[in-house]
Amino acid sequence: MASRSGPGAAEILIGRHDISRRVHELAAQLQADLATAAGPPILVGVLKGSTLFLSDLVRAMDIDVAVDFMSISSYRSTVAQPGSVRIIKDLDSDVTGRDVVIVEDIVDTGLTLNYLRQTILQRGPRSVRAVTLLNKSVRRIVPVPLEYVGFDAPDVFVVGYGLDFQGNYRNVPDIIAVRDVARLVENPRLLVGPLFLGD
Ligand code: IMP
Repeated sequence: MASRSGPGAAEILIGRHDISRRVHELAAQLQADLATAAGPPILVGVLKGSTLFLSDLVRAMDIDVAVDFMSISSYRSTVAQPGSVRIIKDLDSDVTGRDVVIVEDIVDTGLTLNYLRQTILQRGPRSVRAVTLLNKSVRRIVPVPLEYVGFDAPDVFVVGYGLDFQGNYRNVPDIIAVRDVARLVENPRLLVGPLFLGD
């Protein structure tokens, strides 16, 4: 990684090959567990961070699945108040009697996943499971069931593979640990030079 923003502003935490290997393992595990599903399971991606993970996950599965999306307000972009989560875009599908898999990029405090689980459970699905690529368990403030975890993540801010900072860096193929978040807050595009060719 080049260092136009100064040495060590960011580093690869999980490389693309390790991500791919783990995504295939998760897909195999999910597929086996969903073998008795009542009709095609619905994989629910949480916009926008989980889109890359979801698209790789479903392509690694060899069974018929449906895909839907939800978008909810993030505590990061509102006042940081527990319970302030709300739906911005709801599911298009009726999940009654269906097997649902919530697909998250990262579970941090657990507020988002807890809210999604409760919301979906109220609609009478046959089952609800959750899969996350990254689990920052040290930051959890709401205990929430999490059936499948790609990687346990340390308490560092990460971008890439769908994860962003103010809309930047989602299409970086690796998961990048940001060393100096204060500098990124000052200049949200700080890592564009080091992370992308030709910028
Ligand atoms: P939670 O409700 O605290 O579990 O937050 C989950 C959401 O916070 C994720 O879906 C991300 O959008 C965001 N988030 C948490 N940690 C990070 C991070 O390290 N990088 C980017 N986004 C994060």
